[in-house]
Amino acid sequence: MKLWSKGSEPDRLIEEFTVGNDRQLDRRLARYDVEGSMAHIKMLESIGLLKRDELDTLLKALSEILQVIDNGDFTIGEGIEDIHSQIEFMLTERLGDIGKKIHSGRSRNDQVLVDLKLFMRDELRKIAASVGRLFERLQSLSETYKDALMPGYTHLQIAMPSSFGLWFGAYAESLVDDMQLLSAAYDITNQNPLGSAAGYGSSFPLDRRKTTELLHFADLHYNVIAAQMSRGKTERAVAFAISAIASTLGHFAMDMCMYMCQNFGFVSLPDEFTTGSSIMPHKKNPDVFEIMRGKCNRLQSVSNEIALLTANLPLGYNRDLQLLKDIIFPATTTLIECLDMCDFMLAHIRVNRDIINDSKYDYLFTVEDVNRMVLDGVPFREAYKTVGIQVNEGRYRPTRKVSHTHIGSIGNLSSSDIKAKMDRVMSKFGPESNK
Ligand code: ARG
Repeated sequence: MKLWSKGSEPDRLIEEFTVGNDRQLDRRLARYDVEGSMAHIKMLESIGLLKRDELDTLLKALSEILQVIDNGDFTIGEGIEDIHSQIEFMLTERLGDIGKKIHSGRSRNDQVLVDLKLFMRDELRKIAASVGRLFERLQSLSETYKDALMPGYTHLQIAMPSSFGLWFGAYAESLVDDMQLLSAAYDITNQNPLGSAAGYGSSFPLDRRKTTELLHFADLHYNVIAAQMSRGKTERAVAFAISAIASTLGHFAMDMCMYMCQNFGFVSLPDEFTTGSSIMPHKKNPDVFEIMRGKCNRLQSVSNEIALLTANLPLGYNRDLQLLKDIIFPATTTLIECLDMCDFMLAHIRVNRDIINDSKYDYLFTVEDVNRMVLDGVPFREAYKTVGIQVNEGRYRPTRKVSHTHIGSIGNLSSSDIKAKMDRVMSKFGPESNK
């Protein structure tokens, strides 16, 4: 039986095709659907569309449903289309006619909109927390290994001395930029669409500021059409931010694969964190970082997928929008999984502190030696030439002395400045976010 049934039921194939795996996906929206309903009926009571005792009865029944959800016992029944129908069905089952009053002044279109906003707001907070943990880990590794030099490359040719401190710290700071995008996505998400109903508002005098406050949104989508348009746009903003983080993480995963390779040997992991080969007995493969790289690369296609799904849709609700859930739900989960896995792996990383002493890295120090001559008064071009000739004639011997002091260099990682920058952006994601 459908909420919208007026006698006849749709064909079974039509039903299966249009519902798809919505029943499964919508379970993730259950808690938010109840929260949205609670706010909506409190508002309905305040404008006289529900009596006080009806509100209390409905709120009590909704709290019980919330309990079922929290206990993990919640399912969407066969033949029930979606989460919105399931909750309304449960209410009417428990309360009869009072349950049927809940839907005044709203449509499933703004109901799913508000559910998704609340869902994505929470997901963004979880992503922020996972990024925060990885950031701390990278900063702490950066400090631990600030004196351990490693080769720096350009064109994948050895170039100048770098350090493990600089390398770890680079990814920490890069995540700060990604968090700026996540924070923008959070602001776009954190607006109330409820009250837009089917996409054109309602003739009831809905108090939209009240539901905004009750659901702790920072603001509302004022124009009801703009509220409906935010479906797809919000997901896309979230996907852009996910893509930025995934790009940073995927890049790091690539470094790990390369640096774990025997030809580099910069870092290693205990055997339990690597995988073996069915034929080559010696193998200790970096599969975790390969899977991470692959997943992060795939995550960067999510915003494109959303763009294509939503391109040039007619204004107003269209059922195509339902498919957004299929794209964005797994994306937030995968990103969090990758971030947490990276943090887990880094807790066990072993750094080869002596790598720089290998003679194949001798030429890393040519610029240091040129600069030393410059400090002694030799013009740069002359010093450059002298060292260049030593290299060409096989006479170059590095002094291996490195002294970098300026902001952001090997000897001055500026970790606390980077941390302050991260703290500023992190403070925008409140736990219950009243902003
Ligand atoms: N499952 C639907 C979705 O995600 C819910 C909204 C249905 N609205 C409608 N007019 N058929 O979009």
